[in-house]
Amino acid sequence: MIEDATPLTLEKHASLEFHSTEHVNGGPPLASLGRSAVTSTDEFFVRNHGDVPELDPLMFSFGLDGLVAPARLTLADLRRAFPRVTRPVTVQCAGNRRGDLSRLRPVPGELPWESNAISTAVWGGVPLAALLAAFPPAPAARHAAFEGADTVEREGRRFGFGGSIPLECVAELGVLLADEMNGEPLPPLHGGPLRVIVPGVIGARSVKWLRSINLQAEPSANYFQRQAYRWYLPGDAAPEGAPMLHELAVNAVLCSPADRAVLPAGRAALEGYAVAGGSAAVAGVEVSFDDGERWQAAELDAPGRPGLWSHWRLSVDLRPGIYQCLVRAADTHGRRQPRTGVWNAKGYLYNGWHSSTIVVLP
Ligand code: MTE
Repeated sequence: MIEDATPLTLEKHASLEFHSTEHVNGGPPLASLGRSAVTSTDEFFVRNHGDVPELDPLMFSFGLDGLVAPARLTLADLRRAFPRVTRPVTVQCAGNRRGDLSRLRPVPGELPWESNAISTAVWGGVPLAALLAAFPPAPAARHAAFEGADTVEREGRRFGFGGSIPLECVAELGVLLADEMNGEPLPPLHGGPLRVIVPGVIGARSVKWLRSINLQAEPSANYFQRQAYRWYLPGDAAPEGAPMLHELAVNAVLCSPADRAVLPAGRAALEGYAVAGGSAAVAGVEVSFDDGERWQAAELDAPGRPGLWSHWRLSVDLRPGIYQCLVRAADTHGRRQPRTGVWNAKGYLYNGWHSSTIVVLP
């Protein structure tokens, strides 16, 4: 009998693979990500830096502050005064595929995500652009800084997780204040009662349990913008001088068959997902079985859309042998995945060609 153990009250599918017991962090099996265009809420990956705060939707409000006439809004105010939209959007953590990056060189001290720190839900809520049209930012405002009502501990201080986005992406990317996930009220684990959803941008900017939006001239001073989620090599300038992460990188992953799968000879059905960053969409996915000499175009389930993953599939005839299956995507801005991504100290945004081994028996 374990004394003092805090049971996790998780409304999650038993198949989720968890990475940490301190806070809830886990993702669904890869095969299930390859199958469904929309991830069910109980399989949607979770990334939490602190504990899940308990917030009563009826008492909940968030503040609008900074370079704007200050305001405080409840969920009822949001629902009453603004147009609503419902839209499928993919959320991907900057650490997705860190496992592949770590095989180039270890990334100590970070969660060892494989390719399952990603999911898609149909989000319902109010466009942030509509809120800002009603509460216009002062001309000096350049960034929208979000803060969550959770408590995280870093550098000996306790504070809410936060981050910011440049104001110009609010309308361009269709940033949402979401209070619904897959047709239900947004559950506490995913930021309920209200969270931000920033399509095409690292998941860290989609702040959960939204407590405040601050309009300001500079990016957020929150630890998770100022210090973490930056791209640097060991020995580089201090993280504060290193580039801040923002857009996702173009990427494709084979979900099924799994790496090291053993198949009978004959027709094999390959399927997976691909993503693009910012305002780009996935333009195409290609597969190679000869170390990148020749590539076959996979079929996309639907034309790519910014902020939304694309599912792809390819049927191939495989004779007995051991194959390395390489997968790469290109986006509508003409960007392609590199053969090998660049190693970085925190293991972010890895997008080297995805490689799996497939064993085919006679
Ligand atoms: N918001 C708050 N308040 N606290 C957090 O820990 N994690 C961020 C983001 N928003 C986080 C947060 C990160 S790193 C990611 S990838 C996404 O939430 C994950 O969203 P999900 O848990 O709904 O999948």
